[in-house]
Amino acid sequence: MSNTHIINHPLLAHKIAIMRDENTKPAEFRRLVGDVARIEMYEALRDIATQSVDITTPLETVSQQVIDEENICLVPILRAGLGMSDRINDLIPNAIVGHIGMYRDRDTHEAVEYYAHFPANVADMEVFLLDPMLATGGSAIDAVRQVRARGVKKIHFLCIIAAPEGVARFEKEFPDVPLYIGALDRELNDHCYILPGLGDAGDRVFGTLD
Ligand code: PRP
Ligand code: URA
Repeated sequence: MSNTHIINHPLLAHKIAIMRDENTKPAEFRRLVGDVARIEMYEALRDIATQSVDITTPLETVSQQVIDEENICLVPILRAGLGMSDRINDLIPNAIVGHIGMYRDRDTHEAVEYYAHFPANVADMEVFLLDPMLATGGSAIDAVRQVRARGVKKIHFLCIIAAPEGVARFEKEFPDVPLYIGALDRELNDHCYILPGLGDAGDRVFGTLD
């Protein structure tokens, strides 16, 4: 059974439509990235472990299910992934945040890593890798390898827009890693940009468009 989840929800589709619009400015784009990331995170957390705790209300004591927020490690892939992690972190304020810095080489389109920092106990945590775009899949695959190399067993990958080429590569490499997608687009162009896509997500989040 496939571990790829294309999230089908009218609110998510609505927000992605506005993100795609070339007239959407960075402030709104950034907010939408965060909104979509939160919707996806609800889905990605559906099977997270819970534990029973006794909570005393003003009236009585009741057994309730809670999650261990500190066992969740959010890992945005810089730069664009920061737009996702910030708002998910508002939702899960005690989650721990690691970082992977990568950019795609302009000519080869291969991912080039320039930074990585994880909590010391990351191997025991449930890791959620965050990047709005999965194009060739090179960055996503390198990021999963990075995390696996540190002994992490439970890994999820959340993206907003994906290309079929990248998804196929990712699924072949990591059939056991759940992949959450907001919209599966048509194809890559000759420069490995996603069509119809939304352009360069990092530039649109941070306003660094030429
Ligand atoms: C973008 C995007 C992904 C990568 C996807 O980052 O945020 O990390 O490209 O492409 P791939 O699937 O072909 O590897 P970019 O290299 O533009 O870096 P930036 O976020 O710093 O702008
Ligand atoms: N990275 C982006 O930001 N957009 C694409 O379409 C492909 C890679």
